[in-house]
Amino acid sequence: MEQDTSALAAALALQCDWGADEALLESPANRLAVRDATPRAPEAARPAPEPTPRPIRAAPVALAAAPPANTRAEALAAAAPDLAALKAAIAAFDGSPLKETATNLVFGEGITDAGLMLIGEAPGADEDRAGRPFVGASGQLLDRMFASVGLSRESNFYITNILPWRPPGNRTPTDAEVALFLPFLRRQVALIRPKRLVLVGGVAAKGLIGGKEGITRLRGRWYDVEIAGLGRIPALPTLHPAYLLRSPASKREAWADLLLLRRMLDQAPG
Ligand code: URA
Repeated sequence: MEQDTSALAAALALQCDWGADEALLESPANRLAVRDATPRAPEAARPAPEPTPRPIRAAPVALAAAPPANTRAEALAAAAPDLAALKAAIAAFDGSPLKETATNLVFGEGITDAGLMLIGEAPGADEDRAGRPFVGASGQLLDRMFASVGLSRESNFYITNILPWRPPGNRTPTDAEVALFLPFLRRQVALIRPKRLVLVGGVAAKGLIGGKEGITRLRGRWYDVEIAGLGRIPALPTLHPAYLLRSPASKREAWADLLLLRRMLDQAPG
């Protein structure tokens, strides 16, 4: 008998819209406690707890508190002498729960000495699966947009994201997550030594330019971004291709930004 699956499909689509787009386990898991998830014996098989010993008066011990995650991120990033070491440092950094829910680390790729670097927001589901930046629908649009002004990641630029791990359900990164991973991103910029940056979307623009302005106000002109060891790099904020997929009418502004970039590259080739 043929079943009507349209109600089921609609329920699944709704869950995806809410961000529940990964089938992981039969039952929910507390991902903040995964590191502590040593298999436990069933209740009945567990030995009775030892009686609590009487407290013994001990000399006070000065416990060295672990440095906060931001401080560790700064130190790890600063110590990375090259891109391979930086990628390994990010992979080893355990200061963010995003690592626990993501599948793959997404680091930058492309031409490291082209003088042009694109910075996006964070990996989506496709990037998380592939371990590569901008390979899903928005990445394909980005490739077509840049190809229209003669630029590609195979020949003309390096591309990366502010966050190296996918936020669950593709939610927008929080300010705290951006701040935590900025030292790694800034170090990636310092190692690539680009002459120009393109900040793809509001999260990248706000992360590197600062302030409270949204991307629609920031886009369309050059800003100076200070990078340790490099000095000021001209940076052009532009609309994110994921936004353009939802609002195709805004492609006109994105096209104006691309022309601005093309003009700058023609006037002062990197
Ligand atoms: N959106 C981004 O900002 N980065 C990616 O890598 C994919 C989608």
